[in-house]
Amino acid sequence: MDRLRLQGGHALHGTVPISGAKNAALPVMAACLLTDKTLSLENIPNLTDIRAMLALLEALGVDCHADLTAHRLHLSARFVKNVTASYDLVRKMRASILVLGPLVARHGKARVSLPGGCAIGVRPVDLHLKGLEALGASITLEDGYICAEAPKGLIGGTVTFPVVTVTGTENILMAAVLARGTTILVNAALEPEIVDLAECLNAMGAKITGHGTFTITIEGVPVLKGTHHAIIPDRIEAGTYALAAMMTHGNLILKGRHLGQLLPSVFATFSQIGAHIDQKEDQVTLSSSMLRACDITTEPFPGYPTDLQAQVMTVLSLAQGSSIIRETIWENRFMHVAELTRMGADISVHGLTAVVRGVSELQGAPVMATDLRASFSLVLAGLMAKGETIINRIYHLDRGYEAVQDKLTACGACIERIPAE
Ligand code: EPZ
Repeated sequence: MDRLRLQGGHALHGTVPISGAKNAALPVMAACLLTDKTLSLENIPNLTDIRAMLALLEALGVDCHADLTAHRLHLSARFVKNVTASYDLVRKMRASILVLGPLVARHGKARVSLPGGCAIGVRPVDLHLKGLEALGASITLEDGYICAEAPKGLIGGTVTFPVVTVTGTENILMAAVLARGTTILVNAALEPEIVDLAECLNAMGAKITGHGTFTITIEGVPVLKGTHHAIIPDRIEAGTYALAAMMTHGNLILKGRHLGQLLPSVFATFSQIGAHIDQKEDQVTLSSSMLRACDITTEPFPGYPTDLQAQVMTVLSLAQGSSIIRETIWENRFMHVAELTRMGADISVHGLTAVVRGVSELQGAPVMATDLRASFSLVLAGLMAKGETIINRIYHLDRGYEAVQDKLTACGACIERIPAE
């Protein structure tokens, strides 16, 4: 397995091009299953998770033309006959569950492996299934697979989510666009990735209103056409590099379309910690000369995102004072604490709360990446730690961050990728 080697202490200065959002690209890719026309996508990030979704779509029979170095995809589900998403493919990437709604909506049936849990939690999908049942699908679980049937098609209805669920909202949104009649999603997720998906579906001929609010209304249509869509920038990547600027007391320019609108509460939090932020329409400049303690609670959008929790913990480990971080979304998202502690951080965990006492410096060490976002929290630590840091199992990083080494090296970081022996 490849590793990363970092020498700490270099302030980052320069420009970081923010890639397309992984968590917008994945549902939009699944949306190709809703039509027999071609869906052309750009600003697709070149990531392991994107390649995993492509492998799944190809296994279903989608004609995929991918040029990920050019960040482009052309997808056509014209000849899809296979409606089974196998465990072998689904286990590699949990967001594979997003093919369930489109397959049932267009083919009247689907057999999708239950995704199972992952490092950060059990990751249930019960709300996805209840939502499809509310639209008239019959759901059974057989041999670890979700078997969904709607032989006469889905019927519009009201789906109330007791818990805000991002991919649950996305799955039912996609299912509803081809249902007969009107569907109303209540307590829908507000994330920008939901809005991007809805905009793409509307460009394909869907009739969706209210996306970006708690109540989304969908008027079902008989067919969808193809379209050309550009994925929004990755707000989590942008927040991660903003924290890199703060961690190293550097100055970074983050470039991405409408970036400033995607991180409202995050930039407010970063300012509290000590960041100086200059927001323009398609770029954000961020610097920081000192770091102050700050209490943070993760929440659904527009609150502080759980996907930036591990990364901000690293920055707060060097802040003046003590910070309290509450993780309210996932039950096991503090696995980076043990690794940061090995680097000299002073962090104690009490259930879903971490107390971070600022220290004067971190020491480089060999550490282990445990999940996607935790892996970058270790990169941030290595950027500022005294001496050398080796990060193992960086395949986690490759799932969700494109060209990390290139982007950081271009801003003055001392980082190199060590290929597996
Ligand atoms: C999405 O996961 C993201 N993944 C996650 O990002 C992100 O952490 C999460 O939303 C929260 O923002 C993608 O978009 C591909 P949820 P998702 O359904 O949709 C409970 C990353 O690092 N729940 O919004 O799987 C669940 O247990 C990844 O890029 C149910 O109880 O998360 C959790 O407590 C990690 N039943 C809460 O809802 C369900 O059927 C929110 O989960 C579904 C969810």
